[in-house]
Amino acid sequence: MSAQPQRLIAALDLGSTKIVALIAEVTGDARDAGARILGVGVERSAGIRRGVVRDIEETTRAIDKAMKSAQRMAGVEVGSTYCGIAGEHVAGRSSHGMVSVTGDEIRTSDVARVNDMASNISFGRDHELLHAIPQDYLIDQQGGINEPIGMTGTRLEAEVYLVTVLSSVLQNLRKCVERAGYHVQEFVLEPLAASLAVLTPDEIELGCSIVELGGGSTNVSIFHNGKIRHTGSLLCAGGHVTADIVHGLQVTQLDAERLKERFGAGFEPLVPESDVFELPSTPGQGARNAQRRVLAHIMHMRLQEVLEYALDEITRAGYHQRLPAGVILTGGGALTPGIVELAREVFAMPARCGIPGQRLRGLADSVESPRMAVPAGLVLYGARQVATSGGSGTGGRKSPAVEKVLAPVKRWLQDFF
Ligand SMILES: Nc1ncnc2c1ncn2[C@@H]1O[C@H](COP(=O)(O)OP(=O)(O)OP(=O)(O)O)[C@@H](O)[C@H]1O
Ligand SMILES: [Mg+2]
Repeated sequence: MSAQPQRLIAALDLGSTKIVALIAEVTGDARDAGARILGVGVERSAGIRRGVVRDIEETTRAIDKAMKSAQRMAGVEVGSTYCGIAGEHVAGRSSHGMVSVTGDEIRTSDVARVNDMASNISFGRDHELLHAIPQDYLIDQQGGINEPIGMTGTRLEAEVYLVTVLSSVLQNLRKCVERAGYHVQEFVLEPLAASLAVLTPDEIELGCSIVELGGGSTNVSIFHNGKIRHTGSLLCAGGHVTADIVHGLQVTQLDAERLKERFGAGFEPLVPESDVFELPSTPGQGARNAQRRVLAHIMHMRLQEVLEYALDEITRAGYHQRLPAGVILTGGGALTPGIVELAREVFAMPARCGIPGQRLRGLADSVESPRMAVPAGLVLYGARQVATSGGSGTGGRKSPAVEKVLAPVKRWLQDFF
């Protein structure tokens, strides 16, 4: 059975080490949206560094290649795509708004007004609003209200989490996607996307943190009481681990990457002292062996530092000892054997690896890796947008009238965050 164009979605994860394209078909309805993965394309690329375009040509090439592979596998063509965004150029902050209620009870328009009020603040000329996520409503100073519509009161207040991003970064990413021949349907905060792929509702309710160990940056996001509460980006990440291996074992960068994936470990005590492997060598260096423990020591030290920075970020955000569901590790670094043990030790909290799978069907096994948490989450985000708006995916178009009705749904992410 071929997929209906309006139920098709595409997602692009633009990473520092690779670009991933996914094509999927939306399944289920607004309450239970999921996706059937139809096509996957992964292309190694160094055109992006920590979410910022460094090389337009190279990034455009990699997007083109990844999207073409995914479409070929899916047997369909797409015109637009959801795109992940993260990095130091993304900032999150809470904002407060207040309006007086005009009718007998609070209506959708009152909620839209108070949300607008809260997000109508100056971000500076070079930043723009990416998401506005209502966190809490107060009616006549009584807080803790999730859904005020239909309730009675005279004064409505909203706490809204605003995510902003440096405009030039968005423009350059958009340029690459457009040069490759696609329209950006929406930019989506990566941790928000990842949360859809790897977190359970209980974890989001109780409080947890996603620590995404990427190649160029480590992203720390906090979820509590059913909502995202904080997001931050750290400079120390997988690339530093690789650089340490280059220096410590005197190997090339490429060999360091290979050794990390083949023999690496993030928790030294787990590696037997007797384990030895052959080191790549130049003719002058001659045949060399190394103890796996030495490699594990190098990785352990650096990953410990990365996780300690992540803990500092959680503490600075005011959530130390407030996250009973612990830490969920995603990104390529989460594939390191022993990383969960190291995380338990550093955070003194429960820790696990976040592997996408929930609400995904089709070629779901191809995204069953913590490295695919962001692209899988982008697909689920798109699926929810399509399912909640009853609108079009990447293939169809909505009429202006439908757009108008859907505007609040699209704008305020309260329905699913
Ligand atoms: N099996 C593995 N064991 C240990 N580390 C790994 C493994 N596979 C990948 N990595 C590391 O994961 C990192 C890449 O992770 P990921 O693919 O999540 O990054 P990215 O999305 O390209 O970059 P970023 O999100 O930081 O821009 C690299 O540093 C790589 O060495
Ligand atoms: Mg990434």
